[in-house]
Amino acid sequence: KKPVICVAGSANMDLVTTVQRMPMAGETIHGNAFQTYFGGKGANQAVMAAKLGGEVWMIAKIGEDTFGKDYMKNFTACGLNTSCVYTTKEASTGIAAITVQENGQNAIIVVGGANLSFSEEEIEKAAAAIGKADVLVCQNEINLNATLRFLQIARMYGVPTIFNPAPAEDFPDEIYRLCDYFCPNESEAAHIVGFPVKTIEDVKRAGKDFLSRGVKNVIITLGSKGSLLMSEGKTVLVETEKVTAVDTTGAGDAFIGTVAYFIASGIPVEEAMKKASHAAALSVQKRGAQKSFPNYAECGF
Ligand code: RIB
Ligand code: NA
Repeated sequence: KKPVICVAGSANMDLVTTVQRMPMAGETIHGNAFQTYFGGKGANQAVMAAKLGGEVWMIAKIGEDTFGKDYMKNFTACGLNTSCVYTTKEASTGIAAITVQENGQNAIIVVGGANLSFSEEEIEKAAAAIGKADVLVCQNEINLNATLRFLQIARMYGVPTIFNPAPAEDFPDEIYRLCDYFCPNESEAAHIVGFPVKTIEDVKRAGKDFLSRGVKNVIITLGSKGSLLMSEGKTVLVETEKVTAVDTTGAGDAFIGTVAYFIASGIPVEEAMKKASHAAALSVQKRGAQKSFPNYAECGF
């Protein structure tokens, strides 16, 4: 049986400019190239899980505009179940203005638009899809009351939850208690705990902080250093391969989508993390988010 992954999250059109370096305030510079890509953390994670062969249900909201129409086609082309993809005339499809430097580093401004407009009714309509899943995955690019409710629904059905707190903010206490897997990167972790998360000692201290808030397992991604798993009485560092990045956009999403797929298929978390690091490492070597994600065969699993 295919693992069933339900993702409740964002869909953005990524408007990507490639530059030699970032402009300074008040400065105009020439960019090298412009491209649009399908993005948004939720959709990226969903597409990654689908590329690995998962049955993926997407809970999302897009505008009734050109980007929204294109996005719906993309969801279908990627094989996602779209019965919980809602549309609105009131807001535009989410966009992300992304600048990618020649060294592969990026800076992103997200304008949430339709992603931020889930109604109570739409949230409740998605409950059945969540209840049928082997795992629910959420991020922080839709209205927070919706994310909170989706996590509550999953808990009610006994469906394991993965929460990627990106972008980071100060979340209500209840969120942590609803997380089976809480998965920030270093900067998101630092934002939440309020101290710098640079050394491995910092990472462990942050992990403990999250566990004390009621999270069951913490997975902190550490870029080229790999990722750290922490749960009660257990700390495991999972290393990753070194690669040369051309575009790191969506690498974290390739990681989460892969972890979700393998947790849903029931393999040990450390193994899921190892595979997720590999998928992420492959993704940074190509441009774009979803467009750069490898499928199962390309991962060589
Ligand atoms: O994580 C990468 C994603 O963040 C991009 O695709 C962009 O849409 C932003 O949401
Ligand atoms: Na990429």
